Amino acid sequence: MAGNGGSVLVTGGAGYIGSHAAKALHQAGYRVVVYDNLVAGHREAVKYGELVEGDIADVDAVRDALRRYDVFAVVHFAAFLDVGESVREPARYYRNNVVGTLGVLEAMAAERPRHFVFSSTCATYGEPLEVPIAETHPQQPINAYGETKLVIERALRHFERAYGLSWIALRYFNAAGADPDGEMGEDHSPEIHLIPRAISAATGGSGLQVFGTDYPTPDGTCLRDYVHVSDLADAHVRALQALVETGQSDAYNLGTGRPHSVREVIDTVQRVTGLEVPWTTGPRRPGDPAALYAAPHKAQTGLQWTPRFPDLDSIVRTAWAWHRTRPTGYDTSSS
Ligand SMILES: NC(=O)c1ccc[n+]([C@@H]2O[C@H](COP(=O)([O-])OP(=O)(O)OC[C@H]3O[C@@H](n4cnc5c(N)ncnc54)[C@H](O)[C@@H]3O)[C@@H](O)[C@H]2O)c1
Repeated sequence: MAGNGGSVLVTGGAGYIGSHAAKALHQAGYRVVVYDNLVAGHREAVKYGELVEGDIADVDAVRDALRRYDVFAVVHFAAFLDVGESVREPARYYRNNVVGTLGVLEAMAAERPRHFVFSSTCATYGEPLEVPIAETHPQQPINAYGETKLVIERALRHFERAYGLSWIALRYFNAAGADPDGEMGEDHSPEIHLIPRAISAATGGSGLQVFGTDYPTPDGTCLRDYVHVSDLADAHVRALQALVETGQSDAYNLGTGRPHSVREVIDTVQRVTGLEVPWTTGPRRPGDPAALYAAPHKAQTGLQWTPRFPDLDSIVRTAWAWHRTRPTGYDTSSS
């Protein structure tokens, strides 16, 4: 058994990144328990570890799970993550991402676990002052989603001082791709991410709208940093191991450091699938920076993390393999 005995609670483990992380943790020798209310997750995505159905805001239920499974660490994915929705409905985002996460932290403070790995985001940086973005870049979110994640990053310092929690905040850039064994993949509803939307457009789903083609970038479309979901999962295993070994709290970017434009992604989807991606040009979205990509060196040295799928082609290939075999995603009757 990896770690120091007991289980790892994976909140949001029925979701996209959490389900891949549950697999990676299991493969690294950890005993995994998934805690999810299935508001956006899928029962079928929980392939590693038992599923406890519950809400993160229910402190008693979280405490009960921590005790029952002898949990020594929490890897926390459960949250809402649609930037546009967070601007329209900030109350929902603050309630789930802030109040809900505080429920988990309060339960941890009252029970045994002392290690916390947190799904944060590059959205905590806001409009970049420079790219690539290092961890030292000022954090000035420009939407409610990024703000809710920053609130928790800040709270963690106080929980560490007062309750002795050690934590690692992982600031992901754009999660993409699917499990290379085809066991799990991306299935958001509605789908907000570019690669699955481009694949859907290529296979007869609704057409793709590109938000702005007049940015000051080589082809006029936005540049983003796509990081494979299994590489993200691997970084969580490394973060947990670092906490177990050193108890040292810290924050790391998770990105490849290689920017790709929206048009490049569309071209790659066309090449990999052999299908045309119909797309139209729409207006820019407010708050969409021209370029967002990571300085990835801190995670590479601090966590010895090296992406296994650093190139767009292999990311899109795994996504395509998943969507081709699961054109409607997980079995909707089980979610
Ligand atoms: N997908 C990305 O590109 C990306 C980028 C940066 C950060 N993140 C962060 O990563 C995490 C996971 O993202 P994802 O793409 O896997 O999302 P997802 O929606 O697929 O997974 C989230 C999971 O959390 C569960 N959940 C939500 N609220 C809950 C609650 N109150 N109680 C219990 N379970 C709850 C959902 O049912 C779902 O299974 C989120 O915290 C998100 O903010 C994602």
